[in-house]
Amino acid sequence: MKVVVSAGGSVLARELRPEKFESYARALKEIAEKNTVFVVTGGGQAARDYIGVARELGVDEATCDLIGIEVTRLNARLLIAALGDAAYFEPPLNYKEAKNAGLSGKIVVMGGVAPGQTTDAVSAVLAEYTGADILINATSIDGVYTSDPRKNRDARKFESMTPLQLIEIVMKTEMIAGANSPVDLLAAKIIERSSITTIVLNGEDPHNIVDAVNGKHTGTIIRK
Ligand code: UTP
Repeated sequence: MKVVVSAGGSVLARELRPEKFESYARALKEIAEKNTVFVVTGGGQAARDYIGVARELGVDEATCDLIGIEVTRLNARLLIAALGDAAYFEPPLNYKEAKNAGLSGKIVVMGGVAPGQTTDAVSAVLAEYTGADILINATSIDGVYTSDPRKNRDARKFESMTPLQLIEIVMKTEMIAGANSPVDLLAAKIIERSSITTIVLNGEDPHNIVDAVNGKHTGTIIRK
């Protein structure tokens, strides 16, 4: 199988710890034994900190995004460092480079590519462009809920849902300021237009990603 993993900054790099990158590297190597693996790393707290300071300096939003992208690429470099020889040596700058790097047979790790989106959208486009069998979104919640489970006690988790249902949920969540959407709207739309089988799961323990690739997921599966 060809697998794209979106390693959310909120789990991979909430705080920078070598153990986290090592545990992700172990899980990804296990998956790569039998599969082709692409990984997109998020920015985590460092991206928020940098963007926060840039905003206070009066910088425009696109420039803030470019700063965020740099941080996602730094996290990609740390994951590459943890993967060692199993990884392609550089984070590709765009989708074409990533697809090309995939021909090396190594695990390809990249960060963001363009302002106005997050790495969720990057992973969805990468899944589309590489013809991935599955997209796994490893995040800080254990699936997609009817509303933000951190704010609403009545929120219910979907075991499975369609891409159209995902778009509806994301639109509803993104309307609320400060709410945490499971994936961004652009990602949801790409998942829908190409019917990409996607699993949203808790990436706190990266072994959940290995289980999901082996058909035993604990999160939400999105498929037509
Ligand atoms: P993330 O994908 O980590 O965003 O990218 P996020 O929503 O903060 O993710 P979580 O919650 O930690 O998982 C960090 C920032 O980098 C910029 C955006 O500013 C984003 O908020 N970025 C990232 C882009 O502008 N374009 C990209 O392609 C990727």
